[in-house]
Amino acid sequence: MEDVVTLTYNGNEIRLPVITGSEGEKAIDISRLRSETGFITLDPGYANTGSCLSGITFMDGEKGVLRYRGIPVEQLAEQSTFKETAYLLIHGKLPNRDQLTRFSILLNDNSLVHTDMKAFYQNFPRASHPMGILSSMVNAMRSFYPELDSQEEEITLTMTRLLAKVRTMAAMSYKISRGHELVLPRPDLTYCENFLNMMFETPVKPYEINRAAVNALRVFWILHADHEQNCSTSSVRMVGSARVNLYAAISAGIAALWGPLHGGANQAVIEMLTQIQEEGGNFKKAIERAKDKKDPFRLMGFGHRVYKTYDPRAKIMKKMCDELLESLNINDPLLDIAKELEAVATKDPYFVDHNLYPNIDFYSGIVLRAIGIPTNMFTVMFAIGRLPGWIAQWKESMDDPKLKICRPRQIYTGNQGFDFIPSHARS
Ligand code: SDX
Repeated sequence: MEDVVTLTYNGNEIRLPVITGSEGEKAIDISRLRSETGFITLDPGYANTGSCLSGITFMDGEKGVLRYRGIPVEQLAEQSTFKETAYLLIHGKLPNRDQLTRFSILLNDNSLVHTDMKAFYQNFPRASHPMGILSSMVNAMRSFYPELDSQEEEITLTMTRLLAKVRTMAAMSYKISRGHELVLPRPDLTYCENFLNMMFETPVKPYEINRAAVNALRVFWILHADHEQNCSTSSVRMVGSARVNLYAAISAGIAALWGPLHGGANQAVIEMLTQIQEEGGNFKKAIERAKDKKDPFRLMGFGHRVYKTYDPRAKIMKKMCDELLESLNINDPLLDIAKELEAVATKDPYFVDHNLYPNIDFYSGIVLRAIGIPTNMFTVMFAIGRLPGWIAQWKESMDDPKLKICRPRQIYTGNQGFDFIPSHARS
């Protein structure tokens, strides 16, 4: 029997099909709604609205489940590499040895940035935020890497160039902001090792690859790699639906991720914990402010549109904090404040009633601090991690033969029937 819902209004009715996903999620297909009833739906923030069918990532917000192409993120964080996870997200399956070798060679061969792009970096004010630089430089990539005639080669090479060069571009913004010489990627280092080496190697002090830091970065990027139709991924799909090049669509995703309610929260969490520390460690004041409806302050790193329980990624990140700080023999007072704050907030009726738990950003900044990443680059680290997800989601939408340009409707609430008044007659 066909699964339908019946909508009745003003004595009429319409039967709309119900779509059921592979995990049992159900949606009402309203594509005929306006043409048959004149009605549209209204859902500010899209909390109840599915924008697409997707086979890439699945989240269960009530159970705290996250899977990439059906594989639990916990297993990937434990056993995979970021490069392998990127391949899984984009191509839909884990690579065999030969595919992984070819992918590694492609990433290595495309990891340098066009030398003329260096001038762009040098002309940004030194205090520019690295997310603004990254979004600009990724958009500028089309100018340096013009479209290829072969559509297949254009897509493959553009995806590869983004994955290969984004690390180099991120490290470049760090080095140039400090007036340091650039360090180039090396063929003998892995994806994560190369990034850390490009960030911290200097001519006078060789960077010693630290296994614990590399492992923490591997897990960090795997945990950030994709997350269904979040704000930045939806921005990539929205911009991509106009058939603009992938660099421009990814640049839009980076811009959306920069926001403190989204990826910018990892930087905001550390700034919040630092302020609590500077004010004597009184985190209870932050909790009271977060509960005060008159105060715009929010407990950064807490709450989530989908997760109404503990973010599974935050659990792994919290464990990673303990392991990494112990390996590096670091004692970070911000971690102690974060743990105490979590212990109190998650028992507070306000947070319990609002289903507010730590999300990925609550502990991720502690890991990045321990590795030596500057706070203003935390969201760039999120962007590097999320890039394979953005690419996979863009590719899935481009491969959809029924893809239409994204163009939502609205309900007009403004003036009605006004006439133009010449300026001399206006009051
Ligand atoms: C990411 O979408 C994704 O998947 C995102 C992400 C990804 O991987 O792509 O997971 C990454 O962006 C994680 C979220 C990082 N942002 C923060 O940590 C910022 C702090 N959190 C919030 O601003 C908020 O929780 C959001 C933005 C994350 C979610 O907001 P929603 O779903 O729009 O919820 P809401 O703003 O409507 O809040 C619902 C209620 C409100 O109270 P009421 O008016 O109903 O009484 O919960 C309250 C809010 O005031 N609330 C908070 C709160 N978050 C929600 N109150 C205090 N502190 C908070 N952090």
